[in-house]
Amino acid sequence: MWRSCSVMAAKGFLLTMAVAVAAAVVEAGGGAAEFAYDGFRGAGLSLDGMAAVTPAGLLLLTNDTNMASSQRNDTGMSKGHAFHPDPVRFRRPAAGAGGRGGAGSAAGEVLSFSTTFVFAIVSEFLDLSTSGFAFLVTPTKDLSTAMPQQYLGLFNGTDNGDPRNRIFAIEFDTVRNPEFADINNNHVGVDVNSLNSSAAAPAGYYDDADGAFRNLSLISREPMQVWVDYDASTAVVTVAMAPARRPRPRRPLLSTKVNLSAAITDTAYVGFSSASSIVLVKHYVLGWSFSLDGDAPAIDYAKLPKLPRIGPKPQSQALTIVLPIATTATVLAAVAVGFLLLRRRHRYAELREDWEMEFGPHRFAYKDLYDATDGFKDKRLLGAGGFGRVYKGVLPGSRTEVAVKKVSHESRQGMKEFVAEVASIGRLRHRNLVQLLGYCRRKGELLLVYDYMPNGSLDKHLHYHDGKPVLDWAQRLHIIRGVAAGLLYMHEDWEKVVIHRDIKASNVLLDGEMNGRLGDFGLARLYDHGADPHTTHVVGTMGYLAPELVRTGRATTLSDVFAFGAFVLEVACGRRPIEEDDDADDAATAGRRFVLVEWVLGHWRKGSIAGAVDARLGSEFDAAEADLVLRLGLACLLPSPAARPSMRQVTQYLDGSAPLPELPATHARFNTFEGVGKHQQELFDSWSVWRPTSTAATSFATMSDIGLSGGR
Ligand SMILES: *[C@@H]1O[C@H](CO)[C@@H](O)[C@H](O)[C@H]1NC(C)=O
Ligand SMILES: *[C@@H]1O[C@H](CO)[C@@H](O)[C@H](O)[C@H]1NC(C)=O
Ligand SMILES: *[C@@H]1O[C@H](CO)[C@@H](O)[C@H](O)[C@H]1NC(C)=O
Ligand SMILES: *[C@@H]1O[C@H](CO)[C@@H](O)[C@H](O)[C@H]1NC(C)=O
Ligand SMILES: *[C@@H]1O[C@H](CO)[C@@H](O)[C@H](O)[C@H]1NC(C)=O
Ligand SMILES: *[C@@H]1O[C@H](CO)[C@@H](O)[C@H](O)[C@H]1NC(C)=O
Repeated sequence: MWRSCSVMAAKGFLLTMAVAVAAAVVEAGGGAAEFAYDGFRGAGLSLDGMAAVTPAGLLLLTNDTNMASSQRNDTGMSKGHAFHPDPVRFRRPAAGAGGRGGAGSAAGEVLSFSTTFVFAIVSEFLDLSTSGFAFLVTPTKDLSTAMPQQYLGLFNGTDNGDPRNRIFAIEFDTVRNPEFADINNNHVGVDVNSLNSSAAAPAGYYDDADGAFRNLSLISREPMQVWVDYDASTAVVTVAMAPARRPRPRRPLLSTKVNLSAAITDTAYVGFSSASSIVLVKHYVLGWSFSLDGDAPAIDYAKLPKLPRIGPKPQSQALTIVLPIATTATVLAAVAVGFLLLRRRHRYAELREDWEMEFGPHRFAYKDLYDATDGFKDKRLLGAGGFGRVYKGVLPGSRTEVAVKKVSHESRQGMKEFVAEVASIGRLRHRNLVQLLGYCRRKGELLLVYDYMPNGSLDKHLHYHDGKPVLDWAQRLHIIRGVAAGLLYMHEDWEKVVIHRDIKASNVLLDGEMNGRLGDFGLARLYDHGADPHTTHVVGTMGYLAPELVRTGRATTLSDVFAFGAFVLEVACGRRPIEEDDDADDAATAGRRFVLVEWVLGHWRKGSIAGAVDARLGSEFDAAEADLVLRLGLACLLPSPAARPSMRQVTQYLDGSAPLPELPATHARFNTFEGVGKHQQELFDSWSVWRPTSTAATSFATMSDIGLSGGR
C-alpha cells in the first residue's frame, strides 16, 4: 500500500499509478513535494545493489554478507540503495514562479523539509552487527564509487569529507569506527559530505513521561521510528526517534545547527543507503514519508508490512492456556496439574533426531544439566561471550564438577556435522585439552559440557589480574609449552586432523596445577557450516586471524599456527595482539591502536627483542628463553603460511631439540611483517568490533570476543 504525490515546481506532471492506491494529492505550488509509503509494494522505488522490496512490501536494503559478494567478485552487490523515484526540487526556482514566499536567488536557500520512517535492523547474531544504514539526500542515484562496510555505501576512502559530494545523511551506525571519530557502536549521526558526523548521539529517546533518556539498541530487531526535520529559517537539523507506535518524543534526540544550503543541490534524490559487512545484517524500512516545506505525513502503522518472524517462538506462546470458567474445584485442580505437566515438559524439552542415536553416549539429558546448574542461575555463571554463556554445574549422581556452555543456534544447518564432531572430539584426550564430556540439544540451543577448570581462563590472569599475582615467567613458558603440545596432538598425533580455529588467551584454561589447556575446539566450525556456501564467515578473533584465512575463509593447521604465534606474544608480553588506545584524550591520538607484532618487531629491530617482555616481570625472566619465545612467535606470524613452522617444529624449538632458524633474511626489511600489522589494522578498521574491555572478563572459554562489544 502506498500513496504518493511528487510534484515538480511549476511543472505539474501526470503521475500514472500502476496499482490501486490511495493518493493524497498535494497543492502544486511553491515546489512542494510530499509522499508517503505505508509499505513499499508497488511503490516503484529506484533500487540498486542488494536493495529489494520483499513480497510482503518491506524495503530490504541488504540481504547478504560482504564475504559472499566479494567471493562472487561482485562489488556492486555489496551495497544497497533505494530512492523515491523522482528528484525533489530543494530550492525555489530563481524566477519566483512558485508563488509562496519570496523567490530565492540562484544560490538561494534550501527549503525546509521533514521526513519520518520506520526501520528495523536484524542481524543474524543478536548482539553483533557490523554495519549500519543511512537516510540520505544526494545529487545522483549513481553511488557506484561508494564503498561497502563502514562507508555505508555513501562514500569511499578518498572522497569522505569532500564538500563536492553534496550529500546529506543521517546515519544509524552499529559499529564504532575510530577513523570517523564515531562516539560508540550504537549511534545516530548527522553527516554532511562525510562519515565524520557533524553531530551525533547514542541511539535513544527522552521519555515524555519523566524526561529521562532511554537507550535504544539499533540492532535489537525491533522496529523504531525516526523523525528528521530541517528548518531553513534557523538552519537547524533535528532528529528524534522512538520505539515503533509511540508518539514523537517532545524533546529531540539531537538538534544541531548546520546550514544545508551549501550541501544540498537544487534538485536531489532522497532515499536510503546501506552496505553489507562481515556478518549477515538485514536493514529493513517498513514505511516512509517525506514533505518539502511541511510536516511529513504520519505513518499508518495499521498498513505497514510485518517483519518476518525470527528465531523460535517466544516461550510464553506455548504455555498460553485459556482457563475455562469452571465451578468445581476438581476441574480447576485437573487444569492445574495439566498446566504443571505441560510446563515441566516444556522446561525440559529437548530436540532429538534419529541421526543422533549413533552419538548416544555423549548425549546428556537436559534435565540433568538443568539440575546441575540450579536451573542456569546467574550465580552459577562463569562467563559470557560471543557464542554463549558458561555455567558451573555439579552433575547429579557422580558429583562431577562441570562447565556447561549454552550456545544459541537457530539453524539446523551444520548441526549434524557439528554433533558428529562433538562426538569425535569427545574422544580427544590430552592433558593440555579441556575435556569435552558431551552435549545436549534443544530448540535454538546447544549445550556443551566440559570438565571444570578451577583456575579459569588465562586471559583473566594476563589482563585482569584483580589482586592475583602476576604469572611468573616459568609459569608462562609452561603454559605456552602445554598449549603447543595440545595443538600438536590435535594437528598431527590424533587419528584425524583437528583444526582449532580460535586459539587465544581466553580460550586457554588453567587447571588445578596451572597447566594450560585449550578449550572450545571445533565450536567455530558450527558457525563455519553456515546455511549456504556463500555465507561462510571468518570465525576467529581479531589479531589472531591469519591473512590467508581472511582472504579465503579456509582454516588450516597453518592458520592455527598463526594464531598460536599471536598467543605466544600475548603471553610473553602480557598485552593483547591489538589494543585500542581508548584513554587518549586529544584528537590526534584518540583511536590509535597498539599492534603487538609491530611492537615486538620494533624491539627486534633494535636488537633487544627481550625488551618486549611483560614489564610487570621486571628482570625476573630468563633472557635466552624470552629471546627464543618471542622469535618463535614472530616466525609463527609470518604472513606466508608456507614460511611458518609446523606445530611439530614449534615443540622442538621450544624444548631445544632443534635450533630455531633465523627469521628469513628477506624479512630483515620487515616489509612482510609490516604487511601483517597493516592487515590487522585494516581488519580492525573495517570491523572495529574487537574491543577488550574490563566488563568482558571471561572466566571461561569464550569462542570469540566479537560479540562482546555489541549492544552493551
Ligand atoms: C539479494 O537481493 C538481490 C536483488 O534482489 C538478489 O539478486 C539476490 O539474489 C539476493 N541475494 C540473496 C542471498 O538472497
Ligand atoms: C575473483 O577475482 C580474482 C582475481 O581477479 C580471481 O582470481 C577469482 O577467481 C575471482 N573469483 C570468482 C568467484 O570469480
Ligand atoms: C571515490 O569516489 C569518487 C567520487 O565521489 C571517485 O571520483 C573516486 O574515483 C572514488 N575513489 C575510489 C578509490 O574509488
Ligand atoms: C575523521 O575523523 C578522523 C579521526 O578523528 C580523522 O583522522 C579524519 O581526518 C577525519 N576525516 C574527515 C574527513 O574529517
Ligand atoms: C545507556 O547506555 C549507556 C552506554 O551503553 C550506559 O552507560 C547507560 O547507563 C545506559 N542508560 C540507560 C538508561 O540504560
Ligand atoms: C544558510 O546559507 C545561505 C547561503 O549561504 C544563506 O543565504 C542563509 O542565510 C543561511 N541560513 C541561515 C539560517 O544562516
